[in-house]
Amino acid sequence: MIGRLNHVAIAVPDLEGASALYRDTLGAVVGAAQDQPDHGVRVVFVDLPNTKIELLAPLGENSPISGFLEKNVAGGIHHICYEVKDILAARDRLVDSGARVLGGGEPKIGAHGKPVLFLHPKDFNGTLIELEQV
Ligand code: CO
Repeated sequence: MIGRLNHVAIAVPDLEGASALYRDTLGAVVGAAQDQPDHGVRVVFVDLPNTKIELLAPLGENSPISGFLEKNVAGGIHHICYEVKDILAARDRLVDSGARVLGGGEPKIGAHGKPVLFLHPKDFNGTLIELEQV
């Protein structure tokens, strides 16, 4: 059911510093920062040959990654995103198997303009999983 790894998202306390680290130290192709107020984050996309890294910093007061950064002050891997062909079919299969879909179970439009869902980390080895329909 799941396909390619679409991205790995890393929450960071300092977006400029993290961008410089990926661009200058790791030598990656790093994009410009983009505010995503609907998601409460400011994002920098790092393009790798086989996937993407998303550097996420909090935006606004109720950012969904603020609590994560309080527990992980240096930053850390926040979620990984797998591609699916049909997000509603994927959701129904997961719910049937007992997995918990966050946020009421209806897909939202994600950072790339495509429908996404998040799965409860306690059902997936402690990893927050995003599914994106591509
Ligand atoms: Co993501």
